[in-house]
Amino acid sequence: MWTAITREVSPALAGCELSFVPRNPIDIALARRQHAAYCRALESLGCDVIELPALPGYPDSVFVEDVALVFDEVAIATRPGAKSRRGEGDAVHEVLGSLRPLSRIQAHGTLDGGDVLRIGKRVFVGISARSNEAGRAQLRKLLAPHGYTVEGVATRECLHLKSAVTQVADDMLLVNPAWLADASPFASFRMLEVDPDEEHAANAVRVGNAILYPDCFPKTLARLRAQGIHVTTVDVSELQKAEGAVTCCSLLLRTSTPA
Ligand code: GLY
Repeated sequence: MWTAITREVSPALAGCELSFVPRNPIDIALARRQHAAYCRALESLGCDVIELPALPGYPDSVFVEDVALVFDEVAIATRPGAKSRRGEGDAVHEVLGSLRPLSRIQAHGTLDGGDVLRIGKRVFVGISARSNEAGRAQLRKLLAPHGYTVEGVATRECLHLKSAVTQVADDMLLVNPAWLADASPFASFRMLEVDPDEEHAANAVRVGNAILYPDCFPKTLARLRAQGIHVTTVDVSELQKAEGAVTCCSLLLRTSTPA
C-alpha cells in the first residue's frame, strides 16, 4: 500500500548545509546504522522501501524528501533552495517518473519538500529561506488541475515548515507554535503542542494511522501516546546533527488504496 523512497547516507554528510543548528561532529558509521534501522522501521509499518545508493558528491542527499513531492495524481521534481543540493534528485526523479506523471519546478522558483505539508486536498507551503514565492506559484499552478489548494505559511527560526508542524492523525497536527509566525492557516485542525523543552519535536512521519518518531523527545512522545496515537520510535541522533528530521529521510507514496 505504501512505498518509501530513501537514500543511503552520503560519506560527505559532515559537510551538510546547516542553518539553525550548530556544527557538531557526525559519526558516519552510526548515521548509516541509524538510517538502516529507520528503513526497517518503515517496513515494520507496512512500507516497501526502495533504498537508493549513497551519493558521495552530495552531503545532504540522504534527505530525499526535499527533492520531490508525490501526490496520488502527479509527482513534482522540486528545485531546492540550497544550491549545493541541486542535482541530488536525478535518480529519485527517475523512480518517481516511472510511477507518476512527473512535472518540475523551474528556475527561478525554489521549493524544498520539507516546506510542503499536504493534508487531504490542502497543501501548505512554508514561507522560509529555502522556498520562494515563485516556487509556491508554480506549485499552485501544477496542482490546481488536480483539485488541490496551495496556502503559504510563514515560519520563523527553523529550517522548514515540517520542522514546525506535521500531521499525526486525521484531524490533528503536532506543532511547535514558536516556529510558526502565523498558525491561522491551521485553525480547522486540533493542535497538539510539543513540550516546551523539546523544540525540535514537531516532526513525525505518518504512515497510515501510525507515526514514526525520534526517541529523543520523551515528553512529547508521552503527549502523542496519551492521544492514542500508535508511535514507533527510532534513534536518528546523527541525522539530527545534520539538521535532518524523520520526514526528511523518505518520500512516501501510496501505491494502492486499501481494499
Ligand atoms: N542539512 C539539511 C539541509 O540544510 O538541507
